[in-house]
Amino acid sequence: MEKKWWHNKAVYQIYPRSFFDSNGDGIGDLKGIMEKLEYLKKLGVHIIWMCPINKSPNDDNGYDISDYYDIMDEFGTMKDMELLIEACKNYGISIIMDLVLNHSSDEHKWFIEAKSSRESPYRDFYIWRDSINGKVPNELKAFFGGSAWEFDEESGQYYLHSFSKKQPDLNWENSRMRGELYDMINFWIDKGIKGFRLDAIDNISKDLEKKIMNSGPKIHEYLKKMNENTFGKHNQLVTVGETGGATPELAKLYTDPERHELDMIFQFELMGIDGVRSGDWIQKEYSLIDLKNIMTKWQTELNEIGWNSLFWGNHDYPRVVSRFGDHSEDYRILSAKMLATMLHGMKGIPYIYQGEEIGMTNIKFTNIEDYRDVETKNFYKRKIDEGCSMDEIMSYIYRNSRDNARTPMQWDDTEHGGFTKGVPWIKENSNYTTINVKQCLEDKNSIFYHYQKLLKLRQEKEVFVYGSYELIYPEHPQVFAYRRTLEKEKILVICNFYGTETIINIKTNDKPKLLISNYRDTNINIDNLHLRPYEAVIYQMEGGEKE
Ligand code: GLC
Ligand code: CA
Repeated sequence: MEKKWWHNKAVYQIYPRSFFDSNGDGIGDLKGIMEKLEYLKKLGVHIIWMCPINKSPNDDNGYDISDYYDIMDEFGTMKDMELLIEACKNYGISIIMDLVLNHSSDEHKWFIEAKSSRESPYRDFYIWRDSINGKVPNELKAFFGGSAWEFDEESGQYYLHSFSKKQPDLNWENSRMRGELYDMINFWIDKGIKGFRLDAIDNISKDLEKKIMNSGPKIHEYLKKMNENTFGKHNQLVTVGETGGATPELAKLYTDPERHELDMIFQFELMGIDGVRSGDWIQKEYSLIDLKNIMTKWQTELNEIGWNSLFWGNHDYPRVVSRFGDHSEDYRILSAKMLATMLHGMKGIPYIYQGEEIGMTNIKFTNIEDYRDVETKNFYKRKIDEGCSMDEIMSYIYRNSRDNARTPMQWDDTEHGGFTKGVPWIKENSNYTTINVKQCLEDKNSIFYHYQKLLKLRQEKEVFVYGSYELIYPEHPQVFAYRRTLEKEKILVICNFYGTETIINIKTNDKPKLLISNYRDTNINIDNLHLRPYEAVIYQMEGGEKE
């Protein structure tokens, strides 16, 4: 396998709106990111992925772009962006930009043109259908609820929107439209962007007659052509596609270097394990064994071809410690470190979502008015119409809402967690008084320093990067343990996923050396290892024969 510069790096995902507000208008901005590069450097990340920063009316917080060549007013100017790119370069940090190519905003000039008349040269940049017997063309549903079709009075046809009705889908069948997108991507490459996260990218090829909205027949052709005309021309760029419909088979096609499509994808099998945001947001039961099986399947399948993206969440999912760990006072820190250890020991690139490194938790706003996310608000309206009780609706929202991950970054214990001097666009979590960056930086046993150490290990030891993966004790109901091996280098990752003690007996002739742990006095007697609540440890195994 050819080695790439990004193989041993970690990505930090920034949701700019909630990261840091430099000018007191309550909205995070590019200058705010610039002020925090030192912090990111200290953590040890070499790549940042910024959620969309282009001009947008913010129906979906920037995922509805009205001008791909301009910066969102609230975030700053093109000059600020150039300064940020330059500053990142000085810190040795590469920027991955979010490319939203499946749809634009309905306020994009193409769409305004397109709907002005059926004869517009931009009409075919979008997807239009006649009504059928006075009704929608078919029963396709939008991800954010309701029909995927919206009637345009002006021109008398329906347009398709996979997401909100202010996000009309672009028509990838149109080669002129594709060419426009290539030009735009090249514009950003010329500006110094080092990679792209391609939003909802497997939605670009559809087969509407067969009601296929995802991974349609031309998906690989489109990706290949885009690669050839844009990022593929630059060897050092890195790409990751958001592919909601990816199976391991598809993932290999997307990420096989020989095929020149993408470097990595985000697959969502783990994200769907508990039913969060799938179907009707209904909770699904699962066991640790199910979770181990999913992780192991992807580790194994993408061992030879492709590269895994390792993530516990992002701006679309609840906070990891609230979801997969235990955010109670007793176990928040231990379980956050345990989850980080499990993920960062694996093969692939780890993505850290802002605030994860300090153990930020989910939010519970009692008033629906305090929520901002279009998906959450649509869900609420739908459930009210269905006659659901308020308590029930709110319990769904607490578990599923994307706003869980979007409350302001908690920098210190001053008002609004030090995120803004003004009024934040979304309320902060009141636990900022105890959970914040300042506290973490002052406490050498904090979650932050645990992440820092994990990232350092990945830089220092190739076995973390290229070692093969093997699950051990697959049937253990409480412990996730696996081995990584690269020639003579071996590591063992052992994580207790629960708040109760357990024992695991590891049979080996090798001698364990402790690399990292979330307790101060972790045992090295591994043939009878007593694990305390959420205990997580990585050992380096040194061959008996060498001693
Ligand atoms: C992706 C983004 C999400 C957005 C959607 C539509 O899933 O991660 O935030 O709402 O695409 O662009
Ligand atoms: Ca601001």
